[in-house]
This record gives sequence, structure tokens and C-alpha cells, in this order.
Amino acid sequence: MSLQPSWALLPLRLFLGGTFLYAGLSKIFDPHYLDDTSPLGVHAQMLQAATTSPIGPLVSFAAEHPTVIGLVIAFGEVAAGLGTLLGLFTRVAAVGGFVLALSFYLTVSWTTRPYYFGADIVFAVAWTPLLIAGDAGLFSTTARLRAAIRRHRPDLSPDDERRMLLRGGLITATAAALGGGVIALTRLGTDPKPGRPAEPGTNSPTVIAAVAAVAVGSSTSFTTPDGSAAYLVRPSADTFLAFLAGCTHQGCPVTPAGSGFRCPCHGSTFDGTGQVTGGPATKPLTTVPVRVVGGQVVTA
Ligand code: FES
Repeated sequence: MSLQPSWALLPLRLFLGGTFLYAGLSKIFDPHYLDDTSPLGVHAQMLQAATTSPIGPLVSFAAEHPTVIGLVIAFGEVAAGLGTLLGLFTRVAAVGGFVLALSFYLTVSWTTRPYYFGADIVFAVAWTPLLIAGDAGLFSTTARLRAAIRRHRPDLSPDDERRMLLRGGLITATAAALGGGVIALTRLGTDPKPGRPAEPGTNSPTVIAAVAAVAVGSSTSFTTPDGSAAYLVRPSADTFLAFLAGCTHQGCPVTPAGSGFRCPCHGSTFDGTGQVTGGPATKPLTTVPVRVVGGQVVTA
């Protein structure tokens, strides 16, 4: 018995569709993703990637519009995933998935050595069979839409039929995008405002980490009660210090570098006590008061 090629592609289609849908939704529902001050956010990732990517200038330009680009990436993944799973314009969805995976490879995965350890290049190549073959009519919403149009409008010319099919697909995609947009806007409206400064002393204590979980000389990231990204550092056995992650130059999120921090935007450096060790920043990182209570470090 010979197997139709479309059946052979089904596991790949399910895996890529499910993975991209999951990845897109994870970003939409991640409170750090669109937070410009979070080291876990898309802005920080773009700033970091701009320093190593072969398309660095393009990434730097994109980093100036992190919310728009972040939403395009997240909803692009959802659209590619849904289209692939539902068989709705599968080839177009595969082109989207391929472009996204390729852009991830050229940015966040570019420094992975050897190259085959990075997943994004594998994802990019994995999209190509679907890009070439599409869904071939198997579990295909597009094929069902076309059949329905032929049933109800047998008089249509092939061109008109294609136009109506495209219109049906666009209406479905627009409805999905509007639904997703409403969810995203709802989240943007309820999430803590990115970059809002901490208001020490006005929040109830929040546990940051167990004392034993932070080794001497190391740091860990956390989120302040008002939603700002911050770092807790332990310079000595009895000392815990915490700082907002926002650079005091222009607000980019700093990242740990050696025993201190470095800002990926313009290269400011700070030591483990938050003091400036290299400009253009001139002010130390903003301190977040913390104390130790019962073996745990909490906000003061
Ligand atoms: S924003 Fe950090 S160095 Fe400019």
C-alpha cells in the first residue's frame, strides 16, 4: 500500500502548527514579554541580538518599536500555527513560519555553536516541505471552503471563485486577529506599566528568594511588587542588595555581567553594588530595599 505524501507530512504539520501556536500564546500571556524594562522581555532580547546578529542594524531599528514588533511576532506565530493546524492557506502559513524561524535563527540563535545545536535553523528547514507541498487537501479548511463555494455558486469563474475564497480566508483571519488583539489589549491595560519606578515602602513585603538559593557572588532576577524587573545580588554572605533593572541612562534593561551589570544599549557598566563603572550612565542603579526574614530575602 502506498501512502499519499500529504499523510507523510501530517506529523510535521501537527508538530509545527502546535508548537508555533503554543509559542505565540505563551508570549501573549507572558507578563514580561512586552515589558521594556524586563531582562526577559522582547525588547531586551532584541537589544542583545542586535550586538551579535548579521542583520544587527535591522534588529536595532526593530528594537525602537518593541511593542509593535513583539505583537507581530506573537500573533505571527499564532497565525502560522493555526493556519497549519486547520489547513487554512497552509502554504501562506508555512511561509510565515519559515520567515519567523529564519529571523529567530539570524538573531537569538546566531551565536549558538555548533550551529546545529540551535533549534531555530531546524524549524526553518522543517517548514520547507509544507511551504512546497501545502496541505494537499488533507484536513484542509481551504479545500472545504472551496467545495462549499462550488456547491453554492457553481456559476462562478475560477477567478471569482479564488477571490471569494480569499475573502472568506481574510474574514476568518481578521476575526481571529481581532479576537487576539482584544485579549492583548486587555492584558496591556491590566498589567503593570513597564518601567514604572518602584515605590519602596508602599508595598507589603514580597518574598524574593530563599537565602540559601542565592550563592555568594551571584545574582537572581525578580519582579518588584509594582511589576518592575529587578536583580537581587549577594556580594558577601551577610549582604543582600537589590536594584531595578532599568539603566539610569535611558532605561534599557541591564543584564548581569561578571560581578556587576552591563547595559546592552550604550554599554554602561555597573558594579555589584550598583555604582557606575562605565558611562554614559552617570547615576547608580536604583536601589530596591530588601531585608532577610526567617531565612528568606523579602522586599522591605
Ligand atoms: S540606556 Fe543604558 S547605556 Fe544607554
